[in-house]
Amino acid sequence: MGIALIVHGGAGAIASDRFASAQTGCREAALIGWHKLQEGHSALEAVEAAVRILEDNPNFNAGTGSCLTAEGNIEMDAGIMEGHTQRVGAVANVERIKNPISLARRVLESPHVLLVGRGAQIFAREQGIHLCRRQELLTEHQQANWQHAHAERAARLQQQHGTEPSYYRTELGSTSASATSNHLEDSDEKHGTVGAVALDSFGTLAAATSTGGIVYKYPGRIGDSPLVGAGFYADEQSAISCTGYGEDFMRLLIAKRAADFVARGMNAHAAAEAAIALLGTKATGTGGLIIVDHMGNLGFAWNSTHMAHAYITQDMPEVIAGV
Ligand code: GLY
Repeated sequence: MGIALIVHGGAGAIASDRFASAQTGCREAALIGWHKLQEGHSALEAVEAAVRILEDNPNFNAGTGSCLTAEGNIEMDAGIMEGHTQRVGAVANVERIKNPISLARRVLESPHVLLVGRGAQIFAREQGIHLCRRQELLTEHQQANWQHAHAERAARLQQQHGTEPSYYRTELGSTSASATSNHLEDSDEKHGTVGAVALDSFGTLAAATSTGGIVYKYPGRIGDSPLVGAGFYADEQSAISCTGYGEDFMRLLIAKRAADFVARGMNAHAAAEAAIALLGTKATGTGGLIIVDHMGNLGFAWNSTHMAHAYITQDMPEVIAGV
């Protein structure tokens, strides 16, 4: 058994001019996590460190670079889990937190499992976590995405009702978040998420996932990323992090299903393929996942056009990155 780590930077159709930055970002994150493992740190430390790098990279939809809600706010979700202890920490709908994964890690160390919104913010203050300004998380790129989505909504509402758009309209409630910005359909920018899974030298596993959610999402909408068993999961045999259209990952508990496939004897690669096949047959959502098993085997699969990722194991001379 050797140490192993894999990260992802979101599933979707990645524009060709973004291939290089997506792969470089994933490679950098994988290396940081890898160094932690090499230094003898736990898988939990490694996945937190890798995801922090991805959150700090403005090219990914998590932490800095998170997408905006219909109201123009930044509401982020994150979750982290350690396999052998089954300790879980997650935060949802949090604002002004530079690294939601580290807040989730603090929740994991507390008696709680999942804290949301204002309560998570209070907890952050208690933990001495600095509340940043919204501007520090905002990128021009995501502002442009919001403007585009808003203009599309305005045009559609004008056509349907002959009225000015407002996210307060009940129409927003009856329209799925995925239908709110067609130009981003299957774009990684629409539902990008970041994540990491690792096996450490003690043989323990951990998983972490962090996201800004979906572009122009309904205020308060929470996806799969902070929900254990949906967007992330770890036990004694495998660790999984998901990315994609969260609603379907929640309906199908995709991360737990992938873990169950490993528990039933599938290798990591086959389990990843089987879980994504399930997503394709039981739902219409697109996305992907990464997985590491207790032997250090890695697996990854996606049914979207691309999924940015990078990985390294003890047998490899260097990190391999791809989309
Ligand atoms: N998978 C991220 C989300 O749907 O929010």
